[in-house]
Amino acid sequence: MGQPFGSYQNEIYFNGLSGVVPQFPMDFAELEARAQAALPPSVWSYVAGGAGDERTQRANVAAFDGWGLVPRMFVGAAERDLSVELFGMSLPSPVFMAPVGVIGLCSQDGHGDLATARAAARTGVPMVASTLSVDPMEQVAAELGDSPGLFQLYTPTDRELAASLVHRAEQAGYKGIVVTLDTWITGWRPRDLATANFPQLRGHCLANYFSDPVFRASLERTPEEDPQSAILRWVQIFGNPLTWDDLPWLRSLTALPLIVKGLCHPEDVRRAKDAGVDGVYCSNHGGRQANGGLPALDALPAVVDAADGLPVLFDSGIRSGADIVKAIALGASAVGIGRPYAYGLALGGTDGIVHVLRSLLAEADLIMAVDGYPALARLTRESLQRVVQYR
Ligand SMILES: Cc1cc2nc3c(=O)[nH]c(=O)nc-3n(C[C@H](O)[C@H](O)[C@H](O)COP(=O)(O)O)c2cc1C
Repeated sequence: MGQPFGSYQNEIYFNGLSGVVPQFPMDFAELEARAQAALPPSVWSYVAGGAGDERTQRANVAAFDGWGLVPRMFVGAAERDLSVELFGMSLPSPVFMAPVGVIGLCSQDGHGDLATARAAARTGVPMVASTLSVDPMEQVAAELGDSPGLFQLYTPTDRELAASLVHRAEQAGYKGIVVTLDTWITGWRPRDLATANFPQLRGHCLANYFSDPVFRASLERTPEEDPQSAILRWVQIFGNPLTWDDLPWLRSLTALPLIVKGLCHPEDVRRAKDAGVDGVYCSNHGGRQANGGLPALDALPAVVDAADGLPVLFDSGIRSGADIVKAIALGASAVGIGRPYAYGLALGGTDGIVHVLRSLLAEADLIMAVDGYPALARLTRESLQRVVQYR
């Protein structure tokens, strides 16, 4: 049987008997509000903001309200099994931490990537480490303990550099490569534009580049001697508008599981599958890249159908344990947490992330208990019904 995630609530209630109440928020609204107060305004707007008037970002969250789980009784779901096998990994739950560039800046000590890796080590929840980090991927991997990490690649235009990043990830022990397809160019983000704030241009979160031998060899002077030129070089090589012609090359870079992130159209899923990827990742980048789009959750069922047995990762809009359960019922193999863990980090470093993850998992587990779904496989589309929106 799986881990008793729901027992987090017993810990909290029993602590209450000695007058101890949780240090961190128990609901998302308060988590968000307290993170806003804790973060510098520029970091807050970068993390919380999205594309355009943020309609798609809000719709990602609202889409979950359109579904309700139907309770089943006389099931006796006294123990629940949330464990999954994914890309050769045995995971305690179908939850992972989505890649968040600038997570490094969200912690008080400025080393949020390391704090996130330590939270992965403590919870068993895998971390997908972004290319854009304060600390190099090798140092992040060293903090993962026995928990698996995956490396998220922003594919640079320099193919040799891309290969170097992937091979470093392999050497560092990452268990898969997640190639993000929707961010070779930055979407229109009014909050960041209003303050003319783009962290990487200020030299933040470029450690994976500045520590890379191929990147360094392309510079006349080292990033330590001449940071400005190194940043300009980064601007030149960062975004690669990949086409299907590039996929065989990406595939050839690694024998690790290759997962492509940002797919929402079934035809794209079929083509990616035909080209030999190991998994697809349905996401609209939390509404940060293109406004006016479909909520990612609405794209999920067709992606799952087209994947036809290939694992489907999902993120964009997960704010609660109930959301995790719904995404699984709609066919996700695993579900990525994004902003909520960044907010936990802002409030309490590794402890804050651990709290957020344990709370999400406890709620998911308890919903499965109450509603009579003892295993993930029991959560299917038939477990959900459309919700009438009453005013
Ligand atoms: C501040 C921030 C930075 C992000 N950086 C990356 C990144 O470096 N690579 C990537 O693939 N996705 C990145 N994402 C997208 C997340 O992986 C994920 O798709 C998104 O956060 C899901 O939406 P949600 O946080 O609203 O649930 C970022 C998201 C945020 C909020």
